Amino acid sequence: MQQDIQLKIHELRDLLHRWNHAYYVLSQPSVSDFEFDQKLKELEALEQQFPQFSDDNSPTKRVGGDITKNFETVKHRFPMLSLSNSYSKEEIQEFIGRIEKSIGADIDFTCELKYDGVAISITYVDGKLVRAVTRGDGEEGEDVTANVRTIKSIPLQLKGNYPADFDIRGEIIFPLAAFQQLNEEREQNGEPLFANPRNTASGTLKLQDSSIVAARGLDCYLYQVFGKDVDFVTHLESIERAANWGFKVPEQSKKYISRAQSLDEVMNFINYWDEKRLELPFDIDGIVIKVNPYAYQRELGFTAKSPRWAIAYKFKAEQVSTRLEAVTYQVGRTGAITPVANLSPIALGGTTVKRASLHNADQIEKLDLCEGDTVLVEKGGEIIPKIVGVDLGQRLPNATPIQFPLNCPECNTLLIRKEGEAQHFCPNEKVCPPQIKGKIEHFIGRKMMNIDGLGAETVEQLYDEGLITSIADLYDLSYAQLIQLDRMADKSAKNLLHGLEASKQVPFEKVLFALGIRYVGETVAKKLANAFGSLHTIRQATKEDLMAVDEIGERIAESLMEYFQDPDNCAQINKLIEKGLQFERSQQPTKTSTVFEGKTFVISGTFSIERDELKHLIEQHGGKVGSSVSSKTDYLIKGDNMGPAKLEKAISLGIPLWSENDLWQQLKDFPTHSKATSSEFIQGKLF
Ligand code: IVH
Repeated sequence: MQQDIQLKIHELRDLLHRWNHAYYVLSQPSVSDFEFDQKLKELEALEQQFPQFSDDNSPTKRVGGDITKNFETVKHRFPMLSLSNSYSKEEIQEFIGRIEKSIGADIDFTCELKYDGVAISITYVDGKLVRAVTRGDGEEGEDVTANVRTIKSIPLQLKGNYPADFDIRGEIIFPLAAFQQLNEEREQNGEPLFANPRNTASGTLKLQDSSIVAARGLDCYLYQVFGKDVDFVTHLESIERAANWGFKVPEQSKKYISRAQSLDEVMNFINYWDEKRLELPFDIDGIVIKVNPYAYQRELGFTAKSPRWAIAYKFKAEQVSTRLEAVTYQVGRTGAITPVANLSPIALGGTTVKRASLHNADQIEKLDLCEGDTVLVEKGGEIIPKIVGVDLGQRLPNATPIQFPLNCPECNTLLIRKEGEAQHFCPNEKVCPPQIKGKIEHFIGRKMMNIDGLGAETVEQLYDEGLITSIADLYDLSYAQLIQLDRMADKSAKNLLHGLEASKQVPFEKVLFALGIRYVGETVAKKLANAFGSLHTIRQATKEDLMAVDEIGERIAESLMEYFQDPDNCAQINKLIEKGLQFERSQQPTKTSTVFEGKTFVISGTFSIERDELKHLIEQHGGKVGSSVSSKTDYLIKGDNMGPAKLEKAISLGIPLWSENDLWQQLKDFPTHSKATSSEFIQGKLF
C-alpha cells in the first residue's frame, strides 16, 4: 500500500516535471492548465497525507511558501569569475588575435547574449537541485535555494544522461513584461516603483518569503557547466547537452548563441543584436564571445579575475545630449512628488524623447543639475528614458542649480519628506487638486468600479466645473448638471449615469480597492474582504486583528487604521453606503480563482442558467468570453440547440468542446456559485 502510494507520488512528480519543462523551457505546452492543476492538486493532497514522502524538489514546491530568515553564506566549489569588457571592434580584434597567436591556429568562437540579470550557480546531485548560490564576491555567495526553486524554468529534477554531480551557472532575469506588470500593480497600490529589471531581480532573490518570489515570474538562462565528470569537447556541445537535461539555455534557433569563425562573423552577431536588442523580452547589456573548444579554453586558462578565453562586448546604451528646458513636478494620487525633466525634443531609440523622469530630490542633487544644462539622456531597460549626466562644458555661466520646491506646485502646502524615504509628499490630500482627481480616477478604473462612460478627461471637467470634489460626489450628479457640460451629449450623460448606477452592484472587494487606501491594492482588498466580510468589521478591527490576516503586515494595518481614524473618510464612506454601494461581501460568497486565466471561451446555445451568468462565472475565474469562434478560442461551451456554424468551425479548428457540466467539473473545488447572487449582480449590471 505504502509502496503503491510512493509510486503514485513519483509518477505524478515525473509527469508534472515533464509538463513544466514543456511549458516553461520549451514554450510548448503539452497539456491544458486544468489538467496540470488537477494533477498538481492530486500530488499536493497525497504529499499532505503522506508527509514521509515529501521532497524539496517536488513540483509542489514551485509555489513557494518557505521563509528564509537569513541567507547562509556558502563557498563556491569553483570561483565565480567575471569577464573582461570591451567596447569596440578593435578590442575584439585584439582579443581574437591574442588567442590565435597563443594557440597558433584559427579558432572557433561562440557569441552569445550577455544577460543583464543576476548570476547564479546551481548544484545538482543525482539529477536533483540541491543548492543555488548567488555570485557574492566570487568566492562565496548567499544560499537562495528556496527562492530559486520557485523559478519555473529551472529544473528541480533532471532528465536524460546527466553527470552525477555538477554545478551549472547562468543568469536570473526579470522578463520585461513581468517587470512592467509588477510596476503597474505597485502604482495601483500607491507603492514606489522599481527602477529597473536587473536590480529588481536581485532584490526578489533576497526576499524572505519564497511565495512572493514565485509570483513575480523570474526566468533563467544557463550557460556554463562545471564538474569533474563533465566531458564536453566544445562549449556549444555543453549548451546542447544541458538543454537535453532540461535546462533553459541560449537557443541557436533564436540566435541567442551562434558559432563565429572570424572577426567579421563576431561583429555581425554584435551588430545584429545592437540593433535588435530592444525587441528582446528581457534586457541584455552586451555580447559574450567565448572560445568554443574546451581544449583551447583549458590551454588559455585564467587571469586572477577572468578567463582568457572569453570577453564581453558591452553595448553602449544609446545616448544623446539635449537641453533641459525645465523641471516640473507631478503630484500623484498619493501626494508623492515626482520631478520630471522637460527636454528639447530629441530622437532616441526610435522615438522622440521630450521628458525624462528624475525620480526624486536625491537624483537631482546627484546629477548636480542646473537650469538650462545640456544633459545626456539614455534609454536603458526602463520604459522612461533617464538622464545619466550633465555636459559641464556646456553649462551656462552663472547657471542656477535646480532647487527642489519646498511647497506643493499645485496647492502650495509645505512638502514633507519622511525619514528614510526618498520621495517628498504633499500632505494636503483633501484639497490638493491632482490628489483629489487622481483618487477619483483610481476609483472609476477598470479593475475597480469600472464606471462606463466616465474617463480621466470627464473627471477633470467635472472637477473644474466644481461638480465633484470627492468620489462620493459622483453619486449626486444629475442629468441636468451633466448635459450642461461641454462635449456632453444626451447619450453620454445617460450612459454615465447608467454606469454609476450599475457600479452600485460592484462587489465589496472591488469597492474596497477603489477607495484608494494606501497599500490596499487588488490582492490585499480581496484578502481583507474574505477575512472580514464587511467594511464595518474592518473598521472595528484592531491592528492585531488586521495583521492576523495572511499577507497583511504592519504597514498595511497602520495605513488602514489611519484611514479610518479620519472623520472625513468615515463621512465619505457613510455617504457611499447611503447611496447603495456594496460594503459587505454578498451572502453567498462567490469565490474567484485564476483557473481560466489566459483562456478564451465561446458560449453557444442555452444552458441551465442565463448565458450572461455563465459568462460572469468564467470571468470570475480569470477567463475571457469571446463572441465568435476563431483560432484564438480555447474552448467552446456547447449548450442545447446551438447553431451548427459555430460547432463546425470549432471542430475544424480542433477547439475542444465542453458541455455545461464540464465547466462545473472544472469549478467543483470552488464554493458553488449561488444562482440568485449572480443573477442579482447581472441585473444590476444591466440596470
Ligand atoms: S560566461 C567567467 N556568459 O556577465 C565568467 N556570463 O562579468 C564566465 N553574464 O558574472 C561567464 N550573460 O553573470 C557568461 N552568456 C553569458 C553571460 C554572462 C551574462 C554575466 C555573468 C558574469 C558577468 C561577467
